[in-house]
Amino acid sequence: MPDIESLLKEKRSFKPSPEFAKQANWSRKQVAEYRKLGAKSPTRFWAKMAKENVAWFTPWKKVLDWKPPFAKWFVGAKTNVSYNCLDRHLEGPNAWRKNKAAIIWEGEPGDTRVLTYGELHKEVCRFANVLKAKGVEKGDRVCLYMPMIPELAIAMLACTRIGAPHSIVFGGFSADALRDRINDAEAKLVVTADGGYRKGAAFGLKAMVDAAVAQTPCVKSVVVVERTKQPVEIVPGRDCWWHEEMAKASTDCKPAKLDAENPLFLLYTSGTTGKPKGILHTTGGYLTQVTTTFKAIFDVKDTDVFWCTADIGWVTGHSYVVYGPLSNGATTVMYEGTPTHPGPDRWWSLIEKWGVTIFYTAPTAIRTFIRLGDEHPAKHDLSSLRLLGSVGEPINPEAWMWYHRVIGGKRCPIVDTWWQTETGGIMISALPGAVDTRPGSATLPFPGIHAEILDDKGKPVKGEGGGFLVLKQPWPGMLRGIWGDPARFKETYWSKYDKTYFAGDGAHRDKNGYFWIMGRIDDVMNVSGHRIGTMEVESALVSSPDVAEAAVVGRPDDITGTAIVAFVTPKGTTTPDEGLVGRLKQHVTKEIGAIARPSEIRFTNALPKTRSGKIMRRLLRDIASGRAVVGDTSTLEDFSVLAQLRASDED
Ligand code: WTA
Repeated sequence: MPDIESLLKEKRSFKPSPEFAKQANWSRKQVAEYRKLGAKSPTRFWAKMAKENVAWFTPWKKVLDWKPPFAKWFVGAKTNVSYNCLDRHLEGPNAWRKNKAAIIWEGEPGDTRVLTYGELHKEVCRFANVLKAKGVEKGDRVCLYMPMIPELAIAMLACTRIGAPHSIVFGGFSADALRDRINDAEAKLVVTADGGYRKGAAFGLKAMVDAAVAQTPCVKSVVVVERTKQPVEIVPGRDCWWHEEMAKASTDCKPAKLDAENPLFLLYTSGTTGKPKGILHTTGGYLTQVTTTFKAIFDVKDTDVFWCTADIGWVTGHSYVVYGPLSNGATTVMYEGTPTHPGPDRWWSLIEKWGVTIFYTAPTAIRTFIRLGDEHPAKHDLSSLRLLGSVGEPINPEAWMWYHRVIGGKRCPIVDTWWQTETGGIMISALPGAVDTRPGSATLPFPGIHAEILDDKGKPVKGEGGGFLVLKQPWPGMLRGIWGDPARFKETYWSKYDKTYFAGDGAHRDKNGYFWIMGRIDDVMNVSGHRIGTMEVESALVSSPDVAEAAVVGRPDDITGTAIVAFVTPKGTTTPDEGLVGRLKQHVTKEIGAIARPSEIRFTNALPKTRSGKIMRRLLRDIASGRAVVGDTSTLEDFSVLAQLRASDED
């Protein structure tokens, strides 16, 4: 863990201002009480949160049924996520929210749409009826492969209204990746769009769906939103237009009374093998955790305008663009396009235009903006901001300080939030009115969350020290499994330590008890805050007819956090040249998507391996991060000698 030295020299600390602390949803005193309760009894703490923050049709009989590693939360209770996100803001004391903005959307070309809670409710009911008309029933999986447009949020909420779990596939994934995810989930229906806008141009989605669906016998229907008006093929009997179906549908659809453990969504994420895992989340526990963390960590008020810049294709977008904000009755901003289009100040212009008060983004974006220069945010009035957040990867103290100074005008607390697709909601974070922050530290576990640091033997690291980040107690938003693969679920998360969730991250605790997340310690790379398994990229590379063998590692990168470096042994007949580099990068893009495209490909006539045949990734990581990169790709590197030298300490 190379960065730990410099991190631990970090002495700067920031107290919440008295003004912020005074108005905070959770005061210091309140937080102290919750911490005490959560430490003593996580179930009592979470039951209290579930009662206060979520509306239930039927109360639970038991808070937690824990048969490690399988948890059931709020057993016997009934609720509905779309009811919590919509209906409850239209009735009783909150009925005034009917005309409050639920979603403020801006497309990349500058077109906008504002949906009030009243309007969003109608649209969601309509689409729920469309789903029903297409034969989608409770329990059926629906795949959403869409750009960042309001219809995506509408489709999600419609699925939750009838109890059909959604599986969102990020629009940047290729047709092959989409096909595999559709087949794994056995989705019955796909919602997509003709395309979307990025970097000033329209990209296509429907063509990808056509290619994918040609090999997915489970898919019966495809619903297409018209966004870019580019020509698309509509296959009669299978495909239909969103607007035509919506025009026919009624705005009346009762929310289904669903069991707290009814599957809510699947979200595929990369692991250490080539096959992505369908992470399963369920209804009541997930809703409790995202609603509670959103209210406490983002300190949301009815006057706030909240903007999380994540794409809904990732878990951050699920939990903090859609479910957390809407279930709190907040106004959430959705932006379709690239941060720097048409100019490097697009994001800052959006903050000014919509009066954003709470802003949540990723360190990779912050580092990009640092490089682009302070003059771009300086062109805009960012004084509406009162709170900032960071997620997805460790934030280096210098990026934190820039965020604090240039974007936050030194007045906004920063919440650095650690969590994962698997945890559903935020697990470690400052509470902005109650916790002093330190640049680079996610600070302390949320009340009720039992995070610990263990050494290799499973012994808790007491006080200051580093090791593996684990969660000792179940939490309501936790994954309930990997879709269709309970054995992999146990093996991946619960086999390293007994009855303990292993997160795959390294962490350090300082003398104040603060957590410093050091990043992945397994074969998962974090590229621009997106998880990509080394094995996935390797499988893609070896599926090329030119490749005999490939090994992929991450190399530290100033902007993206990690850059993908591939070591490739070409087949005997193939010439390793620049042309091959281009072809292989293109091949990975086709197999997985542009996010997995290696930034560097190095050819070698043999990969360094241990005597037992394992690729020596540590050695390759060292080579990849080394400054002396061989420019001439036509020379085959030979690591066999080095490998022999190092084999003994890796075996
Ligand atoms: C990393 C994203 C440091 C971590 C919500 C984790 C972080 C992985 C932080 C999960 C943070 C996320 N500080 N590292 N604040 N937040 N990570 O599933 O390595 O896309 O395991 O979920 O991102 O990525 P995922």
